[in-house]
Amino acid sequence: MTTRHFLADDDLSAAEYKQLLARAAELKKLQKNGALHHTCAGKAMAMVFEKSSTRTRISFETGMFQLGGHALYLSSRDTQLGRGEPVEDTARVLSEMVDIVMIRTFAHRTVETMAETGTIPVINGLTDEFHPCQLLADMQTWFDNRGDIQGATVAWVGDGNNMCNSYIRAARLLDFNLVIACPEGFEPAERRESDGNRIRVVRDPREAAQGADLIATDVWASMGQEDDAKARNLALASFCVDDNVMNESKKDSLFMHCLPAHRGEEVSASVIDGDRSIVWEQAGNRLHAQKALVEFLLHA
Ligand code: CP
Ligand code: NVA
Repeated sequence: MTTRHFLADDDLSAAEYKQLLARAAELKKLQKNGALHHTCAGKAMAMVFEKSSTRTRISFETGMFQLGGHALYLSSRDTQLGRGEPVEDTARVLSEMVDIVMIRTFAHRTVETMAETGTIPVINGLTDEFHPCQLLADMQTWFDNRGDIQGATVAWVGDGNNMCNSYIRAARLLDFNLVIACPEGFEPAERRESDGNRIRVVRDPREAAQGADLIATDVWASMGQEDDAKARNLALASFCVDDNVMNESKKDSLFMHCLPAHRGEEVSASVIDGDRSIVWEQAGNRLHAQKALVEFLLHA
């Protein structure tokens, strides 16, 4: 049996992705009803963090507990990884002791190396290139509120970063349109000419939002870019998702942000705290979507 991993959004087929979202909705109901669901009893997850986290850590740790398993928080500061032990050796050791590993790191190659060297499923908890677990939660939130996303139009406003790259992979997989508004030099690395009109890059946030069903954004300086924050804020200053941008979108459009957010920078307080924002439900769905993912990978 081949070990399955979740390193990027399209490591699942479209059918598997949707099946997983349906299971996430079931798990959410079970959890809300207080019904025990120990489908991963006796299983342990190593959570390796080389960057900070609130949501990712809490959702995986709580999720493993609710599934009847256990999660270990491993900061690179406190493990031998931080003192130069190779990721390959770490992967081999983790494979001897735990059942699944989640890693948040800088280079995407690190999660690939972990998957290639170890023998257990690896989950990408965010790299500089992708954030597929967040997309799972975003898609669960969309599906729960609006149904299938096929044919819908998503506007991504701001930096063409790891979240934007994951939106691109998800757009190809789930067949939705994506319009990305970013300044020159901030285009997502994942965009391909072959994407054609399905994934477009424009320079005006209001143009991107025209007729959009969902508007999403993220911070202007991602983890690891703190030293460039001033210059990035300057370059992205006209890419704030404010009421003017939201007013261009459909009347029933929704707003998402993976969080943490900076009010007054990438989003105005009126939007993120307003009626169309579903960011708290979106954050909460990290728990349910990832529980479905862990079940899937452990039982695949
Ligand atoms: N959205 C997200 O991944 O949040 P954390 O950085 O808090 O985990
Ligand atoms: N793009 C952000 C996402 C944080 C969840 C970062 O990488 O820091």
